[in-house]
Amino acid sequence: MKTVLFTTLLLVVALANASTFATEANVKWEYQWYNQTLNHFDAEDTRTFLQRYYVNDQYYDYKKGGPIILYINGEGPVSSPPNKPTDGTVIYAQALGALIVTLEHRYYGDSSPFADLSTENLKFLSSRQALNDLAIFILDYRSTIQNAGDIITIGGSYSGALSAWFRVKYPHVTVGSVASSGVVNAILDFTAFDEWVAYAAGEQCADALRLVTSTAEQQIFGGNAAAVKQLFQAETLTDDGDFFYWLADSMAEGIQYGYHDQLCTPLINAMNNKGDMLETYSNYTINVWGTTLGTPGEYATLFQQNTTHDINKADRQWWFQTCTEFGYFQNAPAQGSIRSQMVNMTYHRTHCANVFGKPLWPNTEATNDYYGGNHTAGTNIVFTNVSRKLEIRENNQSPIGSQDPWSRASITVQEYPTEPSLMVTCNNCGHCVDLRECPGGCSTPNNLDQVRQQTLKIIETWL
Ligand SMILES: *[C@@H]1O[C@H](CO)[C@@H](O)[C@H](O)[C@H]1NC(C)=O
Ligand SMILES: *[C@@H]1O[C@H](CO)[C@@H](O)[C@H](O)[C@H]1NC(C)=O
Ligand SMILES: *[C@@H]1O[C@H](CO)[C@@H](O)[C@H](O)[C@H]1NC(C)=O
Ligand SMILES: *[C@@H]1O[C@H](CO)[C@@H](O)[C@H](O)[C@H]1NC(C)=O
Ligand SMILES: *[C@@H]1O[C@H](CO)[C@@H](O)[C@H](O)[C@H]1NC(C)=O
Ligand SMILES: *[C@@H]1O[C@H](CO)[C@@H](O)[C@H](O)[C@H]1NC(C)=O
Repeated sequence: MKTVLFTTLLLVVALANASTFATEANVKWEYQWYNQTLNHFDAEDTRTFLQRYYVNDQYYDYKKGGPIILYINGEGPVSSPPNKPTDGTVIYAQALGALIVTLEHRYYGDSSPFADLSTENLKFLSSRQALNDLAIFILDYRSTIQNAGDIITIGGSYSGALSAWFRVKYPHVTVGSVASSGVVNAILDFTAFDEWVAYAAGEQCADALRLVTSTAEQQIFGGNAAAVKQLFQAETLTDDGDFFYWLADSMAEGIQYGYHDQLCTPLINAMNNKGDMLETYSNYTINVWGTTLGTPGEYATLFQQNTTHDINKADRQWWFQTCTEFGYFQNAPAQGSIRSQMVNMTYHRTHCANVFGKPLWPNTEATNDYYGGNHTAGTNIVFTNVSRKLEIRENNQSPIGSQDPWSRASITVQEYPTEPSLMVTCNNCGHCVDLRECPGGCSTPNNLDQVRQQTLKIIETWL
């Protein structure tokens, strides 16, 4: 979620970039279209739109039949079904002889009902509509497959929450679900996010990140905004709030996605040797963050106001979902904040209003009442246990345990007997690591394989 979603977009990048068979690089996956109902909650509205889906049947024996894994996509475009040997979903499908099907989320990628994403046209973008899309689609799809067996869902982050909620709202459609880093708890004032980034970064790195922020504040409030923004190739962030939001999110994403060492090591060195904090940080945002995680321009209010649908853009849509359903507003905590105090509730309220031209604001309590929040109560849901316990190691080595700040919006304590929670412990791993991989390979200790085997064993008990 680059925003979260990365934090919003972040999510998108991590979950959506599997695009080719590992054996045949750059093969384009073929997709098909599903004729979907636009509004599931008004029988008089008969409009439809085309929703894109992909099938990976490499592990499926059509004669023998087998389970169907519905891999749920979240807030971003889809260019392939899970297909890399390192994908958790592929590992499960291989073991189960399962068919993998993945449906693009409405309004993202090529599955937008409208060419113009005006605020009016976005009104059918909601998790409730999306869950209904999934239910209708997968039942229709299964009826076309001979000998098709039970359905399970898998998702990560926002789609991890959808995967869990699908068991609550449509329990008759599937036999179970995997929710990886599922952000089931809608949190309006999500200061815990920044706190977790600071904790997971480790003390020295957190101090270095604070020094980057305070140096940028001094420069920007001191009249040097143009030069600072130029240094970061962030000239399009004319609004200082957008700039500080981007600055914070690029830090958080480094931690969230397993780039701890690339982010922290040079900054700690610069801090200890009185180096230039902003130059050192800009080297990271341009050469590491910018190559895989995003561009500053996506954070501009002006950019997000653009209503033209573009297959590759997801920011406007995800902001609409946070501004109407989920919040997850990553505000600066009062104490020990890594991000600038400019990133506060006023920033978010203004941002939602400016981007959508009216004062949209989410009722997160209603969202949690509807789904259950961190008491989401379904049966047969595996939550990856994103433990809050981190072991901070000496010599600035990155901490062991979950580096995922989104764990604070996920389920970390098993509450119901049929909702087991498993914990991945590895180094330089982050958000949804059980579905994807650590960016540079997970270093030891590393129980990723064990967690995947445990997950598989639990799935087998459902079939
Ligand atoms: C989708 O379904 C509707 C209603 O059944 C139909 O009118 C429309 O032609 C269909 N669209 C496509 C592209 O098949
Ligand atoms: C800039 O970043 C690159 C890639 O991380 C690194 O190899 C290089 O040493 C850095 N340069 C400076 C001056 O920090
Ligand atoms: C709006 O987005 C579209 C699609 O990405 C792009 O072609 C167009 O130039 C953008 N408009 C403005 C004013 O930036
Ligand atoms: C809150 O954010 C707004 C917009 O970014 C900013 O103008 C204001 O000064 C911030 N408040 C505090 C207490 O920093
Ligand atoms: C669940 O969320 C509520 C508020 O949203 C919080 O007070 C409570 O501590 C959370 N419980 C757990 C187990 O995380
Ligand atoms: C997470 O899972 C581990 C291993 O299964 C367990 O020891 C730990 O108590 C769990 N933690 C939470 C918070 O559920």
